Amino acid sequence: MRKINIFDTTLRDGEQSAGVNLNFSEKMEIALQLERLGVDIIEAGFPAASKGDFNSVKEIAQKIKNSSVTGLARCIKSDMDAAWEALKEGEEPRIHIFLATSPIHREYKLKLSKEQVIEQAVQSVKYAASRFPIVQWSAEDASRTELDFLAQVVEEVIKAGARIVNIPDTVGYGTPLEYGNIFRYLIENVPSIDKVNLSAHCHDDLGMAIANSLAAVEAGARQVEGTINGIGERAGNAALEEFSVALHTRADYYNANTRLKLNEIKRTSDMVSKLTGITVPANKAVVGRNAFAHESGIHQDGVLKEKTTYEIISPDLVGIASNAMVLGKHSGRHAFKSRLEELNLTVSEEDMNHLFTLFKELADKKKEMTDEDLAALVLEEKLSKDDRFFDLISMQITYGTNQVPTATVSLRDCDNEMIQEAATGAGSIEALYNTLERCIGGKVNLLDYRIQSVGAGRDALAQVYVKLRYQDVETSGRGLAQDVLEASARAYLNAVNRVIFVGGKDQVLQPSR
Ligand code: KIV
Ligand code: ZN
Repeated sequence: MRKINIFDTTLRDGEQSAGVNLNFSEKMEIALQLERLGVDIIEAGFPAASKGDFNSVKEIAQKIKNSSVTGLARCIKSDMDAAWEALKEGEEPRIHIFLATSPIHREYKLKLSKEQVIEQAVQSVKYAASRFPIVQWSAEDASRTELDFLAQVVEEVIKAGARIVNIPDTVGYGTPLEYGNIFRYLIENVPSIDKVNLSAHCHDDLGMAIANSLAAVEAGARQVEGTINGIGERAGNAALEEFSVALHTRADYYNANTRLKLNEIKRTSDMVSKLTGITVPANKAVVGRNAFAHESGIHQDGVLKEKTTYEIISPDLVGIASNAMVLGKHSGRHAFKSRLEELNLTVSEEDMNHLFTLFKELADKKKEMTDEDLAALVLEEKLSKDDRFFDLISMQITYGTNQVPTATVSLRDCDNEMIQEAATGAGSIEALYNTLERCIGGKVNLLDYRIQSVGAGRDALAQVYVKLRYQDVETSGRGLAQDVLEASARAYLNAVNRVIFVGGKDQVLQPSR
């Protein structure tokens, strides 16, 4: 079997998705989960893009030990220097540099001739290779590049020191046969091709990202790039969970595999969806809520007689446990702790005390605490320590069909001062958000509000996602609680706290106290 390296770019190309806005702790949690999933390479960001990106790439590179961490850079010295500063303390410093090669990009974006593109690519690879042990070079918009020119650039960057050459279908334009043929052409026409691994990087504009990635593997690619849940620019990137499960399920055909722990897929997908606010469609392959649901009578009958009649992937394979152990209000600390360990949810002793108290409070209201609930709780606990200027102390909302909804809220700020306000609104959420706005003391525009249940059942936990603009900064926030209104308040405060955290405490307007 050929081993295909998995290059995950959830934290770079994925983070470029419209509306996605991850803070440092969230990026770190995703990186740690990607390491658990077993991806070979984590592209943690674009160090030259911002101070925030630089710092998170640096911290992730220092923390992650079992995946190689990389950062993106243009073929510009200052970008490559920033990448080196961010990555040099990692286990295996690796840079990813790119330059567009297609006629459209050369003429309109770069205003460079073919010769100038080759010159810039070669000089950059040489400079990068003088520092980094591993250099990956990408030909942006490769799939719309003249094949003979592409082969020429690829030969030159290999000679200059590139170890991986990536052939992106940047705008998702290629068809599987065309895309696979680019790899075949390069393998046949680039004299030094044996010295590098060829990589596929596909966007999903025409819904062909997975088919194209698989076609590249068939044609000889040894690395595939993508994101969890397929998030990314425009229609997104190839979804790594779909790619890896396709390769596993059709190993008979592709004769290739990855080193991913496929049973970590569901948890990774849930985490990315929760933290980015991008919900997974119910019918999405591999991780969608309905991916394993058999609705029609004929299918149900078939599956009951023999699963494989209509089921080619078992839910267990991707970590959807059918016989998950359930904890409840009578479960003790020992059972709670060992279930977290079994689920690979690492928690410090200090967090454990608070987490167990939270668990008990929730288990008292909810009949059963599923593995999904535990994972959501642990993630929330880890991330809730960040960015806290305002803390929710208590809230009360009155609603009646013929009454004006009214909310009363008490918050505590980081100077330990209590803030209490009340306001009305056309509905409960509006009353609540009007009250919170008064407490905070600045104009807050709500841009998006979404609510989802964690798992099934009437007593499921509520997960709320909001997008808002405060102090001219657009940001998002999440809140988890048993009650939908409390989850809504927590999501709103989480978003406001992020703005304050980024801008410093001085950003807070004087609340109307
Ligand atoms: O899609 C693309 O071309 C990219 C490059 C930066 C590799 O993301
Ligand atoms: Zn891309």
